[in-house]
Amino acid sequence: MNRGLTVESLTVVRGGRTVVRGVDLTVSPGEVVALLGPNGAGRSSTILAMCGLLPAAGGSVSLNGRSLTGLRPDRVRGAGVSTVLENHRVLADLTVHDNLKVAGGRRGTGRVERVERVLQTFPELVEHLDRPAGQLSGGQQQMLALGQALASQPQVLLIDEMSMGLAPVVVSRLLGVLRTLADDGIGVLLVEQFAHLALSISDRASVMTRGKCVFSGAASDLDRDPDLLHRLYMGAGVEDVLDG
Ligand SMILES: Nc1ncnc2c1ncn2[C@@H]1O[C@H](COP(=O)(O)OP(=O)(O)OP(=O)(O)O)[C@@H](O)[C@H]1O
Ligand SMILES: [Mg+2]
Repeated sequence: MNRGLTVESLTVVRGGRTVVRGVDLTVSPGEVVALLGPNGAGRSSTILAMCGLLPAAGGSVSLNGRSLTGLRPDRVRGAGVSTVLENHRVLADLTVHDNLKVAGGRRGTGRVERVERVLQTFPELVEHLDRPAGQLSGGQQQMLALGQALASQPQVLLIDEMSMGLAPVVVSRLLGVLRTLADDGIGVLLVEQFAHLALSISDRASVMTRGKCVFSGAASDLDRDPDLLHRLYMGAGVEDVLDG
């Protein structure tokens, strides 16, 4: 059986335009995969289709061999794939604790333990449990957003633009948490504007330009060759880059 998340020939149409063209991706348990590309490449659209918020016009998404294609977002999450979207907003008027409880599912299903585990991952949140989430700093809110995604104990985490607007020390902390989660067996797909940040914790990377995947390989190959990354971003396919 295929373990982990598999995306095959995914195509997404938005506003009458094909913005994701036949993308293939895999995220195995225990690995961080960076999904990189210039603005408008189609990374967010790929994530939105993977988590059920946009329909796939073609192709498939599956987890451990079971199809998730066409499922509603709550079903995708229930199946084990959690998402932290770009500009994710926590429920500002609810307390931090209530935000986590809402994300942790129904009472009496192990929710207390799930929330407890999130607080072990982010002990920074403990002293703020009774505060409205809207009063937290940007970094704390991003921890809470990640904590909410973790509260359903996902097998795979999809993260879109985590570092935007955050202090470098907070970004390092969050990236460290993602690496630890992966080392504990979760699969992580990380879309990140700052490629070097994502590559620093990733095992593999894919690069998209204009809706197509133009590179898939070891993160270290891209990390040690900024010129390759630059040329991929400028729109060359990997064959052109390696031949050129
Ligand atoms: N709501 C929308 N309706 C129609 N087209 C959209 C919509 N949102 C994005 N697009 C278009 O889809 C294409 C892919 O955008 P997407 O947001 O997936 O890219 P991205 O790689 O996440 O880039 P970035 O995050 O830098 O914007 C772009 O051409 C964009 O203009
Ligand atoms: Mg985006």
